[in-house]
Amino acid sequence: MTVEIMRKYLQGLPEQFGDILQMKIKIPPKYRRDYHNIVVSGLGGSAIGGDILRTYATQQASIPVVVNRDYDLPAFAGSQTLVLAVSYSGNTEETISAYQQARWQGADIIVVSSGGKLSALAREDGYMVVEVPGGLSPRAATGYLFSPLALILDQLGIISGARADLMETQQVLSNLRAEINPDINADRNLARQLAVAMKNRIPVIWGSSSHSEVAALRWKAQINENAKAPAYYNVFPELNHNEIVGFEAPGDLLAQLLIIILRDPGDHERVKQRIEISRAIIKERVAQVMEVEARGKSFLARFYSLAYIGDYASYYLAVEYGINPTPVKVIDYLKAELAKK
Ligand code: PA5
Repeated sequence: MTVEIMRKYLQGLPEQFGDILQMKIKIPPKYRRDYHNIVVSGLGGSAIGGDILRTYATQQASIPVVVNRDYDLPAFAGSQTLVLAVSYSGNTEETISAYQQARWQGADIIVVSSGGKLSALAREDGYMVVEVPGGLSPRAATGYLFSPLALILDQLGIISGARADLMETQQVLSNLRAEINPDINADRNLARQLAVAMKNRIPVIWGSSSHSEVAALRWKAQINENAKAPAYYNVFPELNHNEIVGFEAPGDLLAQLLIIILRDPGDHERVKQRIEISRAIIKERVAQVMEVEARGKSFLARFYSLAYIGDYASYYLAVEYGINPTPVKVIDYLKAELAKK
């Protein structure tokens, strides 16, 4: 049955990090320059690697990493910019457009893709292409799409320790897989328990910091695409300055909401207090509040541990709804309709 496809992808995620480490990505000397900024351009499952990179690099890089999810690049991108154009299919029109713009604006470009027009263009134009294994859904290829980005920045000396962090990520995910895979019964399987709680409710995922914010975004997107269900996300402390006020809504409006808080061991002390106060404010109004803790030492392992639990939970939610998690017909339809115009 078709649910097996996504199940197989999920099982294979930890090894994606090791596969990329073995590729021994080498950056040609022409890229060894003092960039003033890095722009990661992509959409959907290919863009989130940019968000992870931005958050990861923020902790150590002296230059900014910006994520672009549009046809146009920011005006500041120029000869001191390295554009990392990421598209799993290599055929996403916004990313191809941003790539063309990067050329016109004189930026250096590296493409990460499994093939398609983008890889062909970049090869023709003499840019580096990191060709990752194909045949998956973009969102299931997150290890393949993110790891090269980290290794590129590491080789350029913008960040350090990426190899060790990717190795730790593989280890943490493989330990986690032993706990949340489909062979483990619901009474011991956190991801299954989350799926049961999410069924017939609207999940609202709250990150406890900018670290877990990207994980909250990943959860939201995975619930949307795998379970074909609505989900929303926000982050502390920002949500304490707007979203929390919405919990005064009258009547039963909030009774369908399931709040899931993604927590990181490095959370700010004040945020911990904010979470407790916020839980008390919303407790009586929403269906349920749940928490999920990150595992591991490095930011990458902690991010991916949260993401992996969400990946499995969204898969189990699809199974609960009797839906095939893999196809994303609406995205395909939109792309096909736009291609006709
Ligand atoms: O998960 C998906 O299938 C989408 O979000 C795609 O990643 C998005 O449409 C962009 O396509 P690609 O990753 O091939 O550039």
